[in-house]
Amino acid sequence: MKNKTVSRRRFLGASAAAVGAAALPGGMLAAAAAGQRPVPPLPLGDLAPPASPGEDFWWKVRSQFNVVDGMAFMNNGTLGPTPRVVADEEARIYAEIAADPTNGYRRAELHEKRETLASFIGAEPDEVSYTRSTTEGMNIFGRGLDWREGDEVLMCTHEHNGGIEPYIHSRERYGAVIKWVDIPSPPESADQILSIYEAAIGPRTRAIMVSHITYVTGLLMPVKELTELCNRKNLLLSVDGAHPLGMIALDMKDLGCHHYAGAGQKWLMAGTGTGVSFIRRDTMGDIWPLIGAGTYREDGERRFREDSRKYENTGQRHVPSQYALVKSVEFQNVIGKDLIERRVRMLSGRLREGLREIPGVKLWTSMSDDLAAGLTLFSVHDLPMENVQQAILNRDRVFIRTMSTGNLNAVRASTHLYNMPHEVDRLIASVRHIAANPTDYM
Ligand SMILES: Cc1ncc(COP(=O)(O)O)c(C=O)c1O
Repeated sequence: MKNKTVSRRRFLGASAAAVGAAALPGGMLAAAAAGQRPVPPLPLGDLAPPASPGEDFWWKVRSQFNVVDGMAFMNNGTLGPTPRVVADEEARIYAEIAADPTNGYRRAELHEKRETLASFIGAEPDEVSYTRSTTEGMNIFGRGLDWREGDEVLMCTHEHNGGIEPYIHSRERYGAVIKWVDIPSPPESADQILSIYEAAIGPRTRAIMVSHITYVTGLLMPVKELTELCNRKNLLLSVDGAHPLGMIALDMKDLGCHHYAGAGQKWLMAGTGTGVSFIRRDTMGDIWPLIGAGTYREDGERRFREDSRKYENTGQRHVPSQYALVKSVEFQNVIGKDLIERRVRMLSGRLREGLREIPGVKLWTSMSDDLAAGLTLFSVHDLPMENVQQAILNRDRVFIRTMSTGNLNAVRASTHLYNMPHEVDRLIASVRHIAANPTDYM
């Protein structure tokens, strides 16, 4: 099947005209619906939601992305689009430093902005580090612990390489042991998940590494309860939060975990080269920095900082992307992280409800809101996943991704705040057509 090239200009596809410009507030958004792009960025304050936000409010949010023609983009689980205000911030700082490098490091400014990152995830500023990716954050913990030969880490078979590979390193270098657990897709309950992890804990288990939301089936793991399990067994819990950051409302104090690493470029939509790592203050003493840096001077001696800055001195940093990261948090703060989570859950719930009615569709993601959020994984008969993905793209211009991890032959849709209910319905209709005509897509 032929792959259609998708240009950035044609990316998100408002197709607002298709649903009627009447839904759009104001002349500017109506112009957007009529295809007169781009809509200028609105001041952030203009995105504050009304008391009962309706579809016109979400159209306004959507207008802040480079929405062009009819593509419904549903793969921000890989890389999200960037709102204009965020892209503009990055460009502004880039231009400023290009013209005047005298304050190119912006250390004090970025340190001050750490407060915005920290409060977004319910952490203290001195527990939060700027990173360049989830992978970097997962390495900070996975390689920073002083592994001894025979020490075990537990993880499930649906973890991402970004989280697994630090432990491959610690295995090869120090003799740490990776113990794998299998979680059914979908599991019956959070209790079932907890008992699988608990049964695998042995005398040499030192840590559990877990995705808060797995990239494979979108399983939402019971992180709070896993923390309690770890506390009971005197283990550390490292959480791969590549997906939840910007998708669901996070609160580190409530989750309680020892470590949490998030991506900026996915659901937070901050652009590439961005991420956040959290390490609980009482755990930081056990975690060495990846790079021998982040020091201050005391009595003529250099010492490691005792806060999260010890993890982030990677030399000259890409300052514009870090400003963009903070701006993306401000963007989400104006809309509100609880409201964003509700919207994401409404869209994915609508998708799962629609898919499960279709004969021949296998849903790998749980129907329970306790075990799923914004990612949905499904197969159509046993059609090759590439054919399903391409058919959906070519026929109905919805962009989703394939998923082969764990020998799956499936496709994954991400539904985020710039997606509209009619796009979800378009995906459902597309899948219904493919499922009803499988021989056309073998
Ligand atoms: C669960 C999970 N962890 C880690 C990563 C790696 O993310 P990054 O590119 O931010 O290192 C991904 C990327 O898709 C992911 O889905």
